[in-house]
Amino acid sequence: MDGSSLGFASHPTILDMRSHAFTRLFPTLQNHCGSPICSPILPLSQSLTMGTQQSKKNSNGRSSDRSSKASVDASNQNKCPNFGRTYHDIKSSVYILPSDDREIDRLILHHYCIKLGFNGNLIAPVEDILNEGGRVLDIGCGPGIWALEIAHDFECAEVHGIDLVPMFPQQIKPPNVEFAISNVLERLPFPDNYFDFVQMRSFVVALRTYEWPVAIQEIFRVVKPGGWAQLIDIDQKFFRLDGESKAFFDEMTVIITQAGLDPFIAKHLGKYLKKAGFEDVQSTRISIPIGPWKGQLGQMMSDDMCEGFIGAGRLYCPAMNLTAEEYEVLIRKMFHDANKCESYYNWYGHHGRKPIDQDSM
Ligand SMILES: C[S@@+](CC[C@H](N)C(=O)[O-])C[C@H]1O[C@@H](n2cnc3c(N)ncnc32)[C@H](O)[C@@H]1O
Repeated sequence: MDGSSLGFASHPTILDMRSHAFTRLFPTLQNHCGSPICSPILPLSQSLTMGTQQSKKNSNGRSSDRSSKASVDASNQNKCPNFGRTYHDIKSSVYILPSDDREIDRLILHHYCIKLGFNGNLIAPVEDILNEGGRVLDIGCGPGIWALEIAHDFECAEVHGIDLVPMFPQQIKPPNVEFAISNVLERLPFPDNYFDFVQMRSFVVALRTYEWPVAIQEIFRVVKPGGWAQLIDIDQKFFRLDGESKAFFDEMTVIITQAGLDPFIAKHLGKYLKKAGFEDVQSTRISIPIGPWKGQLGQMMSDDMCEGFIGAGRLYCPAMNLTAEEYEVLIRKMFHDANKCESYYNWYGHHGRKPIDQDSM
């Protein structure tokens, strides 16, 4: 696939566009645009354990110097244009993605990427509990597809999904599923020790670093002694990406970090579970290819993430001084390059059990 088939041909090159944007925003730094920053090349492996995980990449350097001039905080989002998309309007939330029909479509694709990557909906050993009619909660359920599938697969289970906004089905749904609006950072509308199994998935762009322990402590509160929690999240790093797209992505990493989020938190969530009081914590890492270089899953993952980054433009465009159109071209170019570089992302799954003899707080 060449650039013209992705629609790059009639646009300025990435260097032109970056130079133009940086000239506007960072006049003294314009000569630094576009030089490649090398990334480590790692083997693509499936279902590796945490023991083999790579050390965190340092994304500082030129890109960091440049981006540090674009101070970003969550409140900036409310001043940004919405690019024709609908976003959450919850002032206390840093969540950067939209909540419209286009995002619902993306989240359904996202669900199937994760399900394919992890070989199913469950990484915690809860099948028997669910077959016996366990109570399940999906935090940040989005359109509710995971909860609906669990309700379908385990018809005796009682399944709940909560989200900040009602993207989930409100009337037509299986009888063993309930959805509600709720914020995991505020007290969830459930008593202590209520659920046999709680999942929270894909929150890397939803919680500030200091909010993670709050959310996981709330999960601990609502899980029954002997019950399980499952966290699945993405490590926001393209392995093998290089050149200008790598520099562009590094700059995005700086911006999201400045907004208070930790794009590399996924690999650490097992430690967070232990700290909250969970035991028997186990962690799994899988690598998912990005782009058709590795078949259907790679294509799906690329479509999911490309669309996700476009949706996150409300955070990135103002900080990079790019229009929505310029930003989208660069994002599409980045995914085109990721395919050429046979790039991949790592996903982490963690699960842990609440001690049987432990009372909730
Ligand atoms: C990236 S989506 C993931 C959806 C789904 N969990 C999945 O993995 O397919 C994150 C979801 O979390 C919700 N969310 C973000 N912050 C939240 C919070 N503080 N409490 C509850 N839900 C939240 C968003 O509205 C969004 O639907």
